[in-house]
Amino acid sequence: MEKEYARRAPGQVRDAILKVLNEAPAPLSVMEICDRVSAVAGPIPRSSIQSYLSLNTPRLFAREARGIYRSSNPSNLSLPLPRSPEEPLRPPFRIGRATLFHAEALRWLDEQPARSVHAVVTDPPYGLHEYSPTQQKKLRERRGGVWRIPPSFDGHRRSPLPRFTTLTTEQLAELERFFHEWGRKLRPRLVPGAHVFVASSPLLSFIVAGALARAGLERRGEIIRLTTTMRGGDRPKAAHAEFPEVSVMPRSNWEPWLLFREPIEGRVQDNLRKWKAGALRRPRKDKPFGDVIPSAPTRRAERALAPHPSPKPQAFLRQVVRAALPLGEGTVLDPFAGSGSTLAAAEAVGYASVGLENDTEYFDLACDAIPKLARYAPTTTSRSRH
Ligand SMILES: C[S@@+](CC[C@H](N)C(=O)[O-])C[C@H]1O[C@@H](n2cnc3c(N)ncnc32)[C@H](O)[C@@H]1O
Repeated sequence: MEKEYARRAPGQVRDAILKVLNEAPAPLSVMEICDRVSAVAGPIPRSSIQSYLSLNTPRLFAREARGIYRSSNPSNLSLPLPRSPEEPLRPPFRIGRATLFHAEALRWLDEQPARSVHAVVTDPPYGLHEYSPTQQKKLRERRGGVWRIPPSFDGHRRSPLPRFTTLTTEQLAELERFFHEWGRKLRPRLVPGAHVFVASSPLLSFIVAGALARAGLERRGEIIRLTTTMRGGDRPKAAHAEFPEVSVMPRSNWEPWLLFREPIEGRVQDNLRKWKAGALRRPRKDKPFGDVIPSAPTRRAERALAPHPSPKPQAFLRQVVRAALPLGEGTVLDPFAGSGSTLAAAEAVGYASVGLENDTEYFDLACDAIPKLARYAPTTTSRSRH
């Protein structure tokens, strides 16, 4: 076995370990790494795997606990970095108390001062690759990919929606790694007690929640945004008539918003005094912030102000953003700003905010949309589809 192992090309075992760790949804024990590497690269003694791990830690691998490893460098991940590094950055856009940066979230976080963010409200790319350059090109050219036009039952034209049931096991593992890395980079920038609201999907929220908990954020609940989303997949494709009493999956009438908190220092009251964070702001003095928020799909008038593929409605966002700063003091961050709707909501409720958007087209769109969305008066009538 040793002989066979010695004949391998230089770096082959190290690369196989890296691949195995990059594909795993969670850190692995030495034994698990050994089994998986042996399965792809032929039998390798555990002692050799152990010495490769020791030799390359912390450069390539990180020790999570005794005998437990993960890949250490986020550049090992095939992260969605939709903008080519040569493309010039737009200058920051500022309006009122909001600032939007044309920036990639993980890189930007690396450069921020410690404990400078008091809350996060964000709607990240749920499946990651729907905002990759390839998928965005397909969306913009209306050539399909992960973006599908949901079936129309009432003659209205539907907006494209990403289909998450198409994600492969590898893409799901990458999703876990991305959100774990994001959580790890975010945490030092958060003040103790900072709340983190993350929009998700019923199909993927368990992965994102697990990754953020693994990064050390404290799970505080889940907000249910009551809204009907046109996820499609209700009836068997091309066999509606044959199976008239069948639903392929439940019709989605809610959207999960994961709620996490950076661990507090001492008691909540001390944390509130020192860091202005650690709790949620009540909608009224006599009413606690609740975890079910009636909402509706983003209305057509609002979508016209912010023509992004996944706009969240102001009526909902303003409630969440307001709750995110218990004393109304501090800065709300949206690292995946899209049309800038979180920044607009922050403007509308009088909070300071910072947003990041990596895609140049969406950055430009947001600069135009933020002031309009901030002034937008949500109504409760006239429904249009998300
Ligand atoms: C789901 S959309 C947010 C939509 C937003 N909630 C709205 O109402 O318009 C996610 C956004 O994150 C951006 N994005 C994806 N990966 C990013 C990254 N690594 N850094 C910064 N922005 C990123 C995408 O271009 C996309 O506009």
